[in-house]
Amino acid sequence: MPPMLWLLLQLAAPVLGFYFSISCPSGNQCQQALLSGNDILLYCNSSGAHWYYLFTQGEKGTLTSLTNISNMEIMPEGSLLIKDPLPSQTGLYHCWNKNDRQVVQYEIDFQDVATLHVTHKGLGQRPLENETLHLGSKELIFTRWEPWQDCNHCEEPGERKRLGYCYVEEHLEEAMPCWLYLGDVQVWSSRLRPELQVEACHVHCTNNTQLKMNYVIFDSFRLDEETEFVWLSCPLGSIYR
Ligand SMILES: *[C@@H]1O[C@H](CO)[C@@H](O)[C@H](O)[C@H]1NC(C)=O
Ligand SMILES: *[C@@H]1O[C@H](CO)[C@@H](O)[C@H](O)[C@H]1NC(C)=O
Ligand SMILES: *[C@@H]1O[C@H](CO)[C@@H](O)[C@H](O)[C@H]1NC(C)=O
Ligand SMILES: *[C@@H]1O[C@H](CO)[C@@H](O)[C@H](O)[C@H]1NC(C)=O
Repeated sequence: MPPMLWLLLQLAAPVLGFYFSISCPSGNQCQQALLSGNDILLYCNSSGAHWYYLFTQGEKGTLTSLTNISNMEIMPEGSLLIKDPLPSQTGLYHCWNKNDRQVVQYEIDFQDVATLHVTHKGLGQRPLENETLHLGSKELIFTRWEPWQDCNHCEEPGERKRLGYCYVEEHLEEAMPCWLYLGDVQVWSSRLRPELQVEACHVHCTNNTQLKMNYVIFDSFRLDEETEFVWLSCPLGSIYR
């Protein structure tokens, strides 16, 4: 690709606000399961914001000022952009304003996208079943499903998907995303994984569905001459929509 075009696209993405964003009301603490490998913007409305983080897997640590993590960037209006997050970046993310007061606090579980259990309803494939763990008391592992996303076509047969995150529920307690629940406890169970389910859909076109078809098309791939391996990336794509 000509270098100029590449530059334009790099600039266009943040300006057009293509990043999938999650927000938490000011003064609140929000817990959220997400997937690794998909860019995400943690919203914080505070210019001059600074962020603190604590990864909850592995060794115990303390909240650390976020200054130099290669895949994270604090945006001018205060939000935190995390590109290609890793499962090991599961943890706490606190946004503070310039007067050192906390604005919002996120607890994010980046569930490993590489272990996604994918099923298609139309092929009779079944999602994962509930299972119990025995760590201390009896804990139930289950999938908490997100709403179905939009159908990918209108006026013709299409498909739509929904994401399901791994949650653990202890007797009478609020369920928690699996790896926020487990923290540094090492457990291996094939049930501990996020899910994606696909089904057929057929919807009418509305103004709304037409507006969403703002595709950006460009090609950017490099052939590794030794392995003949190609990694096709879709920079503005997201599993969340
Ligand atoms: C962001 O904060 C400013 C100043 O506190 C406020 O005026 C504005 O309405 C806020 N914007 C949003 C989207 O909450
Ligand atoms: C940021 O981290 C990189 C690699 O981890 C290091 O080379 C660089 O010196 C660090 N920069 C600052 C300002 O700490
Ligand atoms: C699995 O557990 C969840 C959470 O308790 C519950 O809502 C759901 O109905 C259970 N599913 C089955 C098939 O038992
Ligand atoms: C679609 O948009 C047009 C023009 O903005 C409007 O007149 C019409 O009522 C809309 N139709 C629907 C189904 O929302």
